[in-house]
Amino acid sequence: MARTVLVTGGNRGIGLAIAQAFAKQGDRVAITHRGSGAPDGIFGVQCDITDPEQVDAAFAAIEAELGPVEVLVANAGITDDTLLLRMSEDQFGRVVDTNLGGAWRCAKRASGKMLRARWGRMIFISSVVGLSGQAGQTNYASSKAGLVGLARSITRELGGRNITANVVAPGFIETDMTAVLPEKQREEYVKAIPAGRMATAEEVASVVTWIASDASAYVTGAVIPVDGGLGMGH
Ligand code: NAI
Repeated sequence: MARTVLVTGGNRGIGLAIAQAFAKQGDRVAITHRGSGAPDGIFGVQCDITDPEQVDAAFAAIEAELGPVEVLVANAGITDDTLLLRMSEDQFGRVVDTNLGGAWRCAKRASGKMLRARWGRMIFISSVVGLSGQAGQTNYASSKAGLVGLARSITRELGGRNITANVVAPGFIETDMTAVLPEKQREEYVKAIPAGRMATAEEVASVVTWIASDASAYVTGAVIPVDGGLGMGH
């Protein structure tokens, strides 16, 4: 059955791969972008997820074009790394407000229509570092860990209405975000991954489409790693 899907930050990277995977299986797909537009066959809305009014307007535009959002993939996120001692209030606040606040805003806006429909899927794209921690990422790792509390609270609030809320925790994925890492650091990271390689964005997308499907109806409040074994034990 075709669903209406929103992928925040779906204009590139992991979000784009997720949006394309849903489109390929025949769903009605919308993405948010920040000026780049959307690929053919995908409905694009410009939206900064740190602004509640823009989030509301984006949902209203999607509802008018494709119908209420039935599957929300909260994927948009940023990094701004530095050591704790040097991190500014602004660096901390901006990353948390985008990664965690933005996901919360979208979940809140999506929840009313999902409750009415008595069906919904919320999928939060976290990171392996949300549970393992990472030097230089106190802001980012906190925001990604926060998504676990968010998804699990939503599960407790809405779980009785056929609404699931899950977290996907990717490890190292080949995207713009990881392309900026120095070669030596990349090599070090790959050495620590039991699978011996980084993943493609498509490997994250296939897990996300599965969690959104009817086949996974009893999976909720879960943290699902897509990390080649990197985060094992957390
Ligand atoms: P990316 O940098 O290629 O894409 C991030 C997207 O978020 C972009 O579309 C950007 O426009 C959007 N975005 C950022 N701030 C926004 C805001 N205020 N309002 C609206 N949109 C905003 O990153 P990538 O690698 O595709 O990452 C996607 C998600 O996966 C992120 O949440 C990231 O933290 C997570 N992730 C990525 C990993 C990787 O290895 N690349 C590993 C683990 C998690």
